[in-house]
Amino acid sequence: MTPRLDAPRPRWSRSLPPRLTSLAVLLLAGCGDAETFPQTALDPRSDFARSIDQLQDLTIYLGFAVGLLVFALLAYILVKFRYRPGSPEPQQVHGNARLELAWTLLPALLVAVIAVPTVRVIFETQAEAPPNALTVDVIGWQWWWEFRYPVNGGRDTVVTANEVHVPVGTPVQLRLHGGDIIHSFWIPQMGGKRDAIPGRVNRIVFTPQEPGIYLGACAEFCGESHALMKMRLVAHERAEFDEWLRSEAAPAREPTALTDSAVIVGRRLTVQGACAGCHVIRGTTAVGRAGPDLTHLARRTTIAAGILPNNAENLKRWIDNPPAIKPGAKMPDLGLSEQDIEYIVAYLQTLY
Ligand code: CUA
Repeated sequence: MTPRLDAPRPRWSRSLPPRLTSLAVLLLAGCGDAETFPQTALDPRSDFARSIDQLQDLTIYLGFAVGLLVFALLAYILVKFRYRPGSPEPQQVHGNARLELAWTLLPALLVAVIAVPTVRVIFETQAEAPPNALTVDVIGWQWWWEFRYPVNGGRDTVVTANEVHVPVGTPVQLRLHGGDIIHSFWIPQMGGKRDAIPGRVNRIVFTPQEPGIYLGACAEFCGESHALMKMRLVAHERAEFDEWLRSEAAPAREPTALTDSAVIVGRRLTVQGACAGCHVIRGTTAVGRAGPDLTHLARRTTIAAGILPNNAENLKRWIDNPPAIKPGAKMPDLGLSEQDIEYIVAYLQTLY
């Protein structure tokens, strides 16, 4: 389901008190794209996520066992020592060294059992990247993600936004940076949350294990559109990834449909107009650095940091008035005419 911020409150919710509605919304919040791509920590698809998942399973099973034991004992005592008419006053007991020792040592043992794998997972998930790792710089901005791939030995950089592509079976090292304020990178099926902080570099290393699309989101409150700062990780087989990176490195394709006057006008409006002040379209005069790189925009599946499917209708809505879709968005309502927006979208859709 696409979030509609301007949507009126649905009829079913109008008869409910607001607090109950927000509870219902919390419950439904997990639905979204859930059938296609679940955003879940319970279905790990990388070594990092798997080790966290195993640790979590161990803790949950132990917790269940302790809970069962406590409730079984409680039920036994409630029944066995319940009041019966005429039963004598029970014997009053104060202090029991054996019992006290048992309820101190048993939990200590449990903590030790959990601590050993916990410390192991902490070390594992903080380990340095192996030399064959693919390195990607990730920059969190209000409210989108920039991904920069150093290529040709670091001499060139391939830049994209909001959808990070990686190969399956190769360790991936993400170097996390905060572009403006603190954000937190989190793709639950790949690994734990890790902060993206201005002025320092955090790392997260994991090996994706299965091809697929994995949803993620910013996990650190970063302003009014924090909840609209989503992203996707696309895991490919190695050859497919190499092909993706090669074509992503190429400059924007000159539209073959230059006979289409809408595309010609759209191209001029985009690369010579206000868009070019903030966006790069490599191979054109659009060289702005403030917003996402648009060189291959049409290949992305979503726009506006993962919140809208990438199609003509949504592109028009977004360009028409970004802050209406993403409150506080740095991209302003440029006051473009409907006709100009049509042209711009016609051109943007050629950017494969
Ligand atoms: Cu970025 Cu929350």
